Amino acid sequence: MSEQHNVTRTKTSTRTAREPTGGNGSSATLTLALPRGRILDEALPLFKRAGLDLGAAEKARAGRRLIIPIEELGLRVLIVRDTDVPAYVEHGAADLGIAGRDVLEEQDRDLYEPLDLGIGRCRMVVAEPAGRPVDESAQVHLRYATKFPEITRRHLQARGTVAEIIKLYGSIEIAPLVGLADRIVDLVSSGETLRQHHLREVETIFPVSARLCVGRVAAKLRGDRIDDLIARLRRVI
Ligand code: PRP
Repeated sequence: MSEQHNVTRTKTSTRTAREPTGGNGSSATLTLALPRGRILDEALPLFKRAGLDLGAAEKARAGRRLIIPIEELGLRVLIVRDTDVPAYVEHGAADLGIAGRDVLEEQDRDLYEPLDLGIGRCRMVVAEPAGRPVDESAQVHLRYATKFPEITRRHLQARGTVAEIIKLYGSIEIAPLVGLADRIVDLVSSGETLRQHHLREVETIFPVSARLCVGRVAAKLRGDRIDDLIARLRRVI
């Protein structure tokens, strides 16, 4: 779902989201799922500029705490893996979260995406060995290695390319160097990892940045608070 939504807008869906049966605090508290790592590092100053000081979350994280109540803001922060943010939000265990476009597009869950935060910028690309470019006109069996099989599948389908997709969990750049794949689909930020491995970018699939994502139940039950938070963030991005 790439279209961005205001959370008060209705979205047609055949799937249903349930109010969680427990663990989501009082209805006055907003639960926010944040991914650890670079996005969190960039999100904290952004929230601070928006008047939401999540400094307590940073301190608690240093102390290995992963559920952090910030009572003065009526918030509760969950620190989770980036790829887990959409699951927490879709199932209502968190009202909203922050996730990269890469994660959101790969999982394609039933979520609103009301705001692009403009942080965690990088891009999703196709790359191949500079010295061994793929001849797309040759009828050969091509293999693409990636952490993003769904994004890769959709990209290949859109281009009418038939190829095998090999799902990996990291260090994607070595796959074409050791004969595992002809090309990779991966995130590029500085481009240094591609350079180190003599890979060249063939094309950009889409630019990536982190977005706010909101669950359907949360949008219904806590839409006013969420809209207020979105408005505050929108003023500082
Ligand atoms: C990401 C990505 C690239 C690298 C790109 O990997 O998958 O490998 O960063 O960054 P660059 O363009 O600045 O070099 P990550 O660090 O998440 O490790 P992983 O590949 O093992 O998941």
